[in-house]
Amino acid sequence: SPELAAVVLSGTIDVHDFPKPGIVFKDLMPLFADGAAFKRVVDGIVEHYGPDSFDLVAGVEARGFLVAAAVGYATGAGVVPIRKAGKLPRKALSATYELEYGEATLEVHEDAFIAGQRVLVVDDVLATGGTAGAALELVERAGGTVAGFTVLMELAFLKGRERLSPRTVHALLTV
Ligand code: PRP
Ligand code: MG
Repeated sequence: SPELAAVVLSGTIDVHDFPKPGIVFKDLMPLFADGAAFKRVVDGIVEHYGPDSFDLVAGVEARGFLVAAAVGYATGAGVVPIRKAGKLPRKALSATYELEYGEATLEVHEDAFIAGQRVLVVDDVLATGGTAGAALELVERAGGTVAGFTVLMELAFLKGRERLSPRTVHALLTV
């Protein structure tokens, strides 16, 4: 909704030349630190998906954890972490994706999901879609069914949604 998009926008600070020259970093931490705004966006995600469209939430380390945990708590669904490589204590599945320079790997416990469990994957920002693509692949390889992928902010010029197509992507704000 326009109201939710405005809440996300007003909680975001553009940081120029971070983490390197030429990049405009979208800092959503002011949104998370504003209790009313944070509650509004989490409630907005819950309302979008309705009461019975997913069984479990998966959050993408690190910033996605903040949103995913809140959605998992608000709905009583619970939350599973999709972590950066080497952090999980038990046997995990891995998916590697391209970064602007080099690559990165995400992991999920191989027993994180019951077969067919409907999993809502949550992150803070959709940019190139590399992170999301790896996260969604991991959910499916671990036996879950992707119920949706949601972010607070989508950077449309990086075309992440096209990369994830035809999967369902929900963004509170698209810039
Ligand atoms: C950021 C952001 C998303 C991802 C989006 O995470 O939180 O997860 O980038 O980018 P993409 O669509 O191009 O993959 P980052 O990898 O910086 O790590 P963090 O969440 O641990 O800070
Ligand atoms: Mg991230």
